[in-house]
Amino acid sequence: MTIDILQTGKLLASCEAALAERYTVHKLHEQADKAAWLAANGARIRGIASSYVSADLIAALPNLEVIASFGVGYDGIDTQAARARNIRVANTPDVLNDAVAEMTIGLMIALARQIVPADRFVRAGRWPAGPFGLTAELTGRSVGILGLGRIGKEIAQRAQAMKMRVLYHGRRRQLNVPYVYYDDLATMARDADWLVLIAPGGKGTDGIVSRAVLEALGPEGRLVNMARGSLVDEAALLELLQKGGLGGAALDVFADEPNVPQAFFALDNVVLSPHQGSGTIQTRDAMGALLVANLDAHFAGEPLPSAVV
Ligand code: 8YV
Repeated sequence: MTIDILQTGKLLASCEAALAERYTVHKLHEQADKAAWLAANGARIRGIASSYVSADLIAALPNLEVIASFGVGYDGIDTQAARARNIRVANTPDVLNDAVAEMTIGLMIALARQIVPADRFVRAGRWPAGPFGLTAELTGRSVGILGLGRIGKEIAQRAQAMKMRVLYHGRRRQLNVPYVYYDDLATMARDADWLVLIAPGGKGTDGIVSRAVLEALGPEGRLVNMARGSLVDEAALLELLQKGGLGGAALDVFADEPNVPQAFFALDNVVLSPHQGSGTIQTRDAMGALLVANLDAHFAGEPLPSAVV
């Protein structure tokens, strides 16, 4: 007996191939009239492979049992609606920790050492006319991490390897963690040279990095967002970067991806990255494999390798 599952968007090719081998896969994103398709076929669907699942979609699938998300963050899934129907939800944690942490440090070095503008400087043939300006370094500076979870801890270790002092803020102090805890985000931002965001998106963190937090980070401070655009007051961020109220920013995520406010493009104190924290072949393959493993476990009647609901 085959099992019908639904994709709502394109997934990694290796993941799509593995799903197609095991399941009867339906692609909602390829249907011209999605509502009509759901009305005719919704009752067949027992699983979803997607990072974006609304309450409306869940309501259109009366026999849905499991949602397997591609990504560690599951803010795109209405977990409340899933829980109400006893639908399991799984994500892809851990396999991306190293890739995201590497990218974080990479963006920090790129911003401090002005690697992108320096590359433009050489390519534009400007070097013979005089040297590139001097830059900053990470060594000896402090970094405040918002969200000392599994990825946050990998970032902290790498920051220590860069000879940085690590501070952190989260809902609670953690035992056996050798970093300085702040129970107030603005106070940590005031004391830190760098503020790295790696907390989950969703209601609990919406707008948590307010204008006041950015002002506390200050003209010498630099923000790194590896989490979700929703955490930051993006308008305030832009304004402070433009007028020197904030030293710089390295942004991998934005409020309205893939649309980035054009005003950022003119700023040299910003590094822009297209949401690619986990974007290596190795890591994305592992994320895809974990998504498939979650579905397989569910339909084999086994515990999910990485359940969130
Ligand atoms: C995305 C991410 O899932 O894991 C997360 O929460 O944000 C990323 O890894 C990835 O960009 C695939 O869409």
